[in-house]
Amino acid sequence: MSDIDIYSLIIIGISALWVMLPAYLPNPVAAALGGGRPIDGGRCWRDGRRIFGDGKTIKGLVFGIVGGVVIGLLQILIQSHAEIVWLPEHTFVSITLLAAGALLGDLSKSFLKRRRGVERGEKWPVADQFDLVIGAFILLLIFDPEWLFSAITIGIAIAILILTPVLHRGTNIIGYALGIKDVPW
Ligand code: CTP
Ligand code: MG
Repeated sequence: MSDIDIYSLIIIGISALWVMLPAYLPNPVAAALGGGRPIDGGRCWRDGRRIFGDGKTIKGLVFGIVGGVVIGLLQILIQSHAEIVWLPEHTFVSITLLAAGALLGDLSKSFLKRRRGVERGEKWPVADQFDLVIGAFILLLIFDPEWLFSAITIGIAIAILILTPVLHRGTNIIGYALGIKDVPW
């Protein structure tokens, strides 16, 4: 433990947040700005349940991805002006894959929830917290594995696994308190 000092832990934690910001932002943006026509258009799957449900809207998907890309562009802008050598460097491809992957992961999770008979808004532990990480990592693995393996070290990956459920819980409680979310999860 002695060679892993608190200073390097903080750097790993900040790096994890920096890497994941374009994937973390789409969900709260979708919750704040989503609504209107659902992606499935109200249609049901062959099991008689909704394909995705009313919680997955076109507006939420579009604004959420745009929100993630916009924050990512700001990060790229910051990194082009101030060279912070220890921070993983974003690219236009990485921020787009992170933002799109986060909400595609969220959408896939809703599809699986409905197939398992879990109602819209009902809790589905673990999947509700890690859908965005799984979605983002799958897209990166397919379209930019080189970036994935150079930016996300083992330490950063572990930090993402620890920070994601904590942030998820925190933002949902805040969203609930602000009246943006119907339930605190
Ligand atoms: N949202 C949206 N469009 C999306 C994703 C989210 O409009 N593509 C909005 C919806 O208003 C949704 C809220 O963000 O209710 C919270 O998202 P989430 O917790 O993922 O949806 P749930 O309503 O819990 O639905 P599900 O059970 O399908 O996860
Ligand atoms: Mg939910």
